[in-house]
Amino acid sequence: MDSTIVVKLVLLGDTAVGKSCLVVRFVRDEFFEFQEPTIGAAFLTQTVQLDDAAVKFEIWDTAGQERYRSLAPMYYRGAACAVVVYDITNPDSFAGAKSWVKELQRRGDANVVIALAGNKADLESRRKVEFEEANAYAEENGILHLETSAKNANNVKALFVEIAKKLPKNRPQPEREAFPLAAPPQENRSCC
Ligand code: GTP
Ligand code: MG
Repeated sequence: MDSTIVVKLVLLGDTAVGKSCLVVRFVRDEFFEFQEPTIGAAFLTQTVQLDDAAVKFEIWDTAGQERYRSLAPMYYRGAACAVVVYDITNPDSFAGAKSWVKELQRRGDANVVIALAGNKADLESRRKVEFEEANAYAEENGILHLETSAKNANNVKALFVEIAKKLPKNRPQPEREAFPLAAPPQENRSCC
């Protein structure tokens, strides 16, 4: 019989790499050229259907601006999976992504599934981070790597499907009190 597993997923990465746009594309299939920077964090949910199970992602879209950095552990703690995003036109954001991967490996959950997403892949003419370089880094670290475009939707659903496939299907359900905020979040509230 089909089962649904519920998993906490966190998005991390520098400001303006497109974390919120990736989530909005995945959850609502929309894209905004002028997406506002996230304040604090936003919470959304979306379910993907695999052959043998459904995976409901409880998604924490964190704010990448430096002033919010100290909040991040609150959101990645207890997360079964993490999407670390960089912008393929911005090498600094790739360096930032590496430092998030390192932090997750040191301080995240032991079995956290990490996916590195090179976003804005539609901006090929402005590319500064080569696919091969990021892919080699991901292989060395045993993490997933995809290039995505929230703008043209390329690889966005595939990213979450790949993560869902890597999750252990018999993991215990997360504790409801694991929400990092005092009040439980409203589902699908506006994210920015
Ligand atoms: P913070 O919330 O500050 O951490 O930023 P963020 O990572 O959530 O970035 P956000 O989703 O707000 O996107 C920043 C800008 O990049 C927006 O103006 C988007 O329109 C643009 N953007 C996001 N994804 C893409 C993409 O795939 N391609 C292109 N060309 N632009 C994108
Ligand atoms: Mg954002």
